[in-house]
Amino acid sequence: MKVTVVGAGNVGATCAQIVAEKNIVQKVVLLDIKEGISEGKSLDLWQTAPINEYDTRLVGSTNDYAKTADSEVVVITSGIPRKPGMSRDDLISINAGIVKSVTENIVKYSPKAKIIIVSNPLDVMTYAAYVTAKKPKTEVMGMAGILDTARYRAFLAEALDCSPRDIQALLMGGHGDTMVPLPRYTTVSGIPVTELIDAERLNAIVERTKTGGGELVNLMGTSAWYAPGSAAAQMVEAIIMDQKRIFPCCVKLEGEYGLNNMFVGAPVKLGKNGVEQIIEVKLNEAELELLHKSANSVKAIMDVLDGMNIL
Ligand code: NAI
Ligand code: 2OP
Repeated sequence: MKVTVVGAGNVGATCAQIVAEKNIVQKVVLLDIKEGISEGKSLDLWQTAPINEYDTRLVGSTNDYAKTADSEVVVITSGIPRKPGMSRDDLISINAGIVKSVTENIVKYSPKAKIIIVSNPLDVMTYAAYVTAKKPKTEVMGMAGILDTARYRAFLAEALDCSPRDIQALLMGGHGDTMVPLPRYTTVSGIPVTELIDAERLNAIVERTKTGGGELVNLMGTSAWYAPGSAAAQMVEAIIMDQKRIFPCCVKLEGEYGLNNMFVGAPVKLGKNGVEQIIEVKLNEAELELLHKSANSVKAIMDVLDGMNIL
């Protein structure tokens, strides 16, 4: 079995490394347009195999999609970050153009692949890939919810001085400041989190989660990659191993939560067929309002992209 990661930058290389270390596929192909970078990173990673004890072969490719043929899962991390002086619309048009051309090549060489988008703006790039791929909505999804939930869980573990593994949480909506962490669906080994932390501290953690990506950009001058790469690798594993895991992922909603033709984060079951189920949890009025507000902010960017006639 083969997994391809497009974009051998920070997130893509980290994702390739973690997938390889999981030892769940025979081959990971890392593809980039920059001459030699994916070959170099693949060779460097392959040389960790004897140390970290895995068999997964890593193969680099400078824009040669033939090497990606018949991949089971493809992770798309290619894109550019927003640079000083660049408008949001410039970023959308450049990254949508990249996601479109990458998706066309992926579908040509791996028509059955499940596609996981990482490139930003995440929800809108998932929409761009879905429109381009012309595949069932179960086979095109975006990674953000696992990352945002991981940040929320990590902050809670610190505040409660407990293991992050024992914190279960749900977060919905778009991958931006309007995302919706759901304290009512957050437990610590089954104990409602609200019984363990006061409302003020919990609210501060919710707010920090919403701007968690920006916090890291401010510290590093570029966006994060360890947790994003790990989160994408966890989605790959769930599909390859048919784990039926329940994660928040960006998916196309068609009526669920009162949202139609929208791409936002919602809890889904991930297995060998991709998104095997979209789970509709009961939201109260305030939570539903926040989710719709978040969906509206994604829709505004989808409309900007539609107006550009790129897809
Ligand atoms: P990076 O700049 O380190 O890597 C991007 C790579 O994409 C570069 O190596 C570049 O050469 C490559 N690339 C550009 N155009 C390409 C094309 N047409 N074909 C193949 N490769 C191409 O960026 P980084 O940090 O890895 O981030 C990647 C993307 O992921 C960005 O859009 C970033 O905003 C996004 N991101 C999304 C997250 C999420 O939660 N969904 C979290 C973190 C980052
Ligand atoms: C992150 O959340 C910026 O999407 C990127 O780290």
